[in-house]
Amino acid sequence: MPETSRQTSWSRLLDLARWPGARDIAARFAADPARPARMTWALDDLSLDLSRTSIGEAEFAALFMVAEAADLESFRARLFAGETVNGTERRAALHMALRVPEAPHLHAQANASAWEEACAYAVAERARMHRFVADVHEGRLLGATGERFDTVLNIGLGGSDLGPRFVCDALTQVQGPVLAPRFLSNVDGHAFEGIARTLDPARTLILVASKTFTTEETMTNAAAARAWLAAQLGEAAVGAHFAALSTNRQAVQAFGIAPERMFGFRDWVGGRYSVWSPIGMSVALAAGWETFAAFLAGGHAMDQHFRSAPFTENLPVLLALAGIWHRDALGAASLCILGYDERLRLLPAFLQQLEMESNGKSVALDGTPAAQPTCPVVFGAAGTDAQHSFMQLVHQGTDLVPVDFLLAAKPDHDRSDAHEILAANALAQAEALAFGRDRASVETQMREAGVDEATIAAVAPHRVFAGNRPSTLILFRRLDAFTLGRVIALYEHKVAVQGCLWGVNSFDQWGVELGKVLARGIRPLLEGRGTAACAATAASVSRLRALQAAK
Ligand code: F6P
Repeated sequence: MPETSRQTSWSRLLDLARWPGARDIAARFAADPARPARMTWALDDLSLDLSRTSIGEAEFAALFMVAEAADLESFRARLFAGETVNGTERRAALHMALRVPEAPHLHAQANASAWEEACAYAVAERARMHRFVADVHEGRLLGATGERFDTVLNIGLGGSDLGPRFVCDALTQVQGPVLAPRFLSNVDGHAFEGIARTLDPARTLILVASKTFTTEETMTNAAAARAWLAAQLGEAAVGAHFAALSTNRQAVQAFGIAPERMFGFRDWVGGRYSVWSPIGMSVALAAGWETFAAFLAGGHAMDQHFRSAPFTENLPVLLALAGIWHRDALGAASLCILGYDERLRLLPAFLQQLEMESNGKSVALDGTPAAQPTCPVVFGAAGTDAQHSFMQLVHQGTDLVPVDFLLAAKPDHDRSDAHEILAANALAQAEALAFGRDRASVETQMREAGVDEATIAAVAPHRVFAGNRPSTLILFRRLDAFTLGRVIALYEHKVAVQGCLWGVNSFDQWGVELGKVLARGIRPLLEGRGTAACAATAASVSRLRALQAAK
């Protein structure tokens, strides 16, 4: 597609945003009584409701034009074909292969495509993982003192932590864990001390989760855990208590973990897309293999939908387009994620890495500045907790903050009263954001409550809700493992689609590099060796050292 077409499509979209009424959600409902049904799409029981946005037919037409100009169709095909969509690292992004079901043809090697080869490797490694999990659960693999493991400690960072941490938390809240999952990510010694204090080394299985097996924080924590275990149970115990989840065989062996206790994946799995790989070992150990398998099946169901559904009915595409409308047309610089479900309390942290590490870029694929604003700042919390912290700003602040609401129709507990309160609050928030409350109705309500006119005049302006604040509603029957898999894959593909439309590489993360390099140079300064090149750093180092030296 020629560059002018790209420019034309974006211009048309931005022109639409300049029309008076571009944000008017109530007007859309007034013009189209069938809007709630027309603006809701579903994959089985999982639905995406975009009615509470200001997107109408003209906006969709313009958004689809942007998608066409970005050649989304061919991007999707290249993604699944295992082509090098991550150009700066010369890698494919084939994490979808990790969730394909076991199938006989996946073992055939001759003339296999990149996709088939990836699937065959992933399925074989998954079978190894399954055996390991079964051996731990059934007591064939024991700790060095002959005791069964009751705790799994995952040591990892970023994608080697956030995915498994979130999924374990979500999937073990209802039935309780098989092995208690614990997570150590921060290199802060307080984190290690805090966890080590609560662990019984004889019953703890330690997973060192690191794609590269070189991440300084993870390797520092892994070394501390190794020393801690050896001090308690003896050096010979290390082999029985450690396993590695990594792509780096040599470094794993150098650490002292035997090849049969290393579970691998390939470089086509980005860290933030790796919970489906052996990095998800803690999920399988904590929630059980069947649950992990159902989680993968959910991800696969969303892959098939994304791969085959027309864009006009494609949930990840539609969610992505809504995000583009809010970010680029309406200028919303943030995105709020509200799972009205305690099991989704870690979803915002997970999505922060997925969205911001993927699309937090200001350089386009060809090295030129990105032509449009890209990823918004992602934040969120579980509802209703969020209502009592930051939702004030989302309702009445000066910035437009689009919200994604997620809600299960059926809870997995017996307190239906609590679930109804939860669901009512989610829907009430969406309604308040979209339709607000005007001055006249505020005043009427205050008058009816017997408030005097002077107070009404003073207080009413503060009680007005402007409305026209967009949200999406993702609704599903239950939040089981299958649906959690669908939800995560929905967001993964949404992020890829947005990256394609923005023309950035969603699969690299060079923005984390500079800090790592500088930290290596600053460390000796903290020990009194050398001089900082940066005046600000030099001053901070000397203040820090003076405080350290003080009694
Ligand atoms: O933060 C950068 C990053 O490379 C992430 O993409 C990744 O998830 C994390 O570090 C951890 O990397 P590793 O799994 O190699 O330790």
